[in-house]
Amino acid sequence: MEKILVLDFGGQYNLLIARRVREQRVYAEVRSYRNVTAESVAAEGYKGIIFTGGPQSVYAENSPKCDKKITELGIPVLGICYGAQLLACLYGGKVSPASHAGEYGKVEFTHGDDALFKDVPELSVCWMSHTDSITALPECFTATARTANCPVAAMSNGKNIYAVQFHPEVTHTEYGKKILGNFLFGVCGCKGEWNMSGFLKTSVERYENALKGKKALCALSGGVDSSVAAVLLNKAVGKNLTCVFVDHGLLRKDEGDKVERTFRGLFDMKLVRVNAADEFLDKLKGVTEPEKKRKIIGEEFIRVFEREAHKIGKVDYLVQGTIYPDVVESGAGDAGTIKSHHNVGGLPDVIEFDGIVEPLRYLFKDEVRAVGRELGIPEELVSRQPFPGPGLAIRIIGEVTEEKLAILREADAIFREEIASAKLCDNPDQYFAVLTDCRTVGVKGDARTYGYTLALRAVSTDDFMTADWTRIPYELLARASNRITNEVRGISRVVYDVTSKPPATVEWE
Ligand code: XMP
Repeated sequence: MEKILVLDFGGQYNLLIARRVREQRVYAEVRSYRNVTAESVAAEGYKGIIFTGGPQSVYAENSPKCDKKITELGIPVLGICYGAQLLACLYGGKVSPASHAGEYGKVEFTHGDDALFKDVPELSVCWMSHTDSITALPECFTATARTANCPVAAMSNGKNIYAVQFHPEVTHTEYGKKILGNFLFGVCGCKGEWNMSGFLKTSVERYENALKGKKALCALSGGVDSSVAAVLLNKAVGKNLTCVFVDHGLLRKDEGDKVERTFRGLFDMKLVRVNAADEFLDKLKGVTEPEKKRKIIGEEFIRVFEREAHKIGKVDYLVQGTIYPDVVESGAGDAGTIKSHHNVGGLPDVIEFDGIVEPLRYLFKDEVRAVGRELGIPEELVSRQPFPGPGLAIRIIGEVTEEKLAILREADAIFREEIASAKLCDNPDQYFAVLTDCRTVGVKGDARTYGYTLALRAVSTDDFMTADWTRIPYELLARASNRITNEVRGISRVVYDVTSKPPATVEWE
């Protein structure tokens, strides 16, 4: 399989670069500059290497560097922003603070004749974000593009090393896709054959062989990732896979039954559903502190899962729905400090397995969804919005009770129904209701009411690290509010959350 190495120097767009490459049907993987050597790069047989941007100056003490030999393997290299400056440094050029205090945002650039700019108009817009600039070209390199303030907006050695000061991976760069495509297809000679049906076929074959006669266990949450992982493994090993679905009683309206119906009916899977609502609610009794709720739910989940796993007997492999951003964010790339992702909190420590199977480890979320569609998983499940592991417990402020769960389930279902039927051209990426513990006075008929305040939340985001509150139409909010206060007993007021992340988080707890 042809693949591109995205060598990560700590830039904020490292994953975006890999995505942009994969969108052109070439497989790309992100590796930290710390974890590669010229020998390891040569052994992997990459068709091309992209140096990412990074927050540092190349001359700063301890700034990220790599062995020049990596660029001497004969593999084409494209440096972006910091990556371009690093190439300039490695080859004896000069980088200095830009004379105009850097360039940020959309800037016009012009280019000369160069493979990278084939079929790109002579004048177009690129996205710049740099404080330093290349001020003296290395020997054997020529400047191939310029902006008003940046004489070396791109350079190349006319053979296999290319560099751009701007960010072709960002959509604001008008011809960014074309420029990356020129590198992938024109320079590296890629064919662009990476697709999800090919991925699925090879994955199923691989697991059919590797897991022959072995028993596997999958913790199924009903979310996209664990569902796709489970169906893929089911296709490979059939009844040797057992899925355990723990219904903790904190799911949305009808969710548990829907998950069960899909997996038993459509895929004839060996599925154990554990109804543990009483157990979870008992443990949550009187608990109001958000972190404590999360901890209790996490621990309880492991206990229930462990109990069920022991009933099943000896299991060789644990199947997890880990996806690529989880892997990179956990330190495989250079963005290890963002968060340490854990799937189903430490299961391997409490149950003995010979190994862990992560069939989606190298896929982005939209690729996982595409695999799900290839597998025939219903659209409703494949395109579902994220739902937190602790479920409605962190959307009920204060103590979680059955009464509050029932109120929230109904109100949340109405809000989701209204969003779905409005068919907005820009659907929010996540939307739900939150039951606050604030009660307020209302009037129904001629009588006073005293019910809960319900908050509606809808956010638009690419990565859930930051998010903006979605400007959904007033009419939709009016309909949802009207229906909720009429149809759900116990709610006397509905408010809409207009806070972005940061400073708020997506979930209220
Ligand atoms: P926050 O609230 O941190 O949420 O801004 C960002 C995204 O993560 C989801 N989320 C979770 N997902 N387990 C999960 O699987 C959790 O404990 C959890 N907490 C938040 C949240 O729904 C949003 O999509």
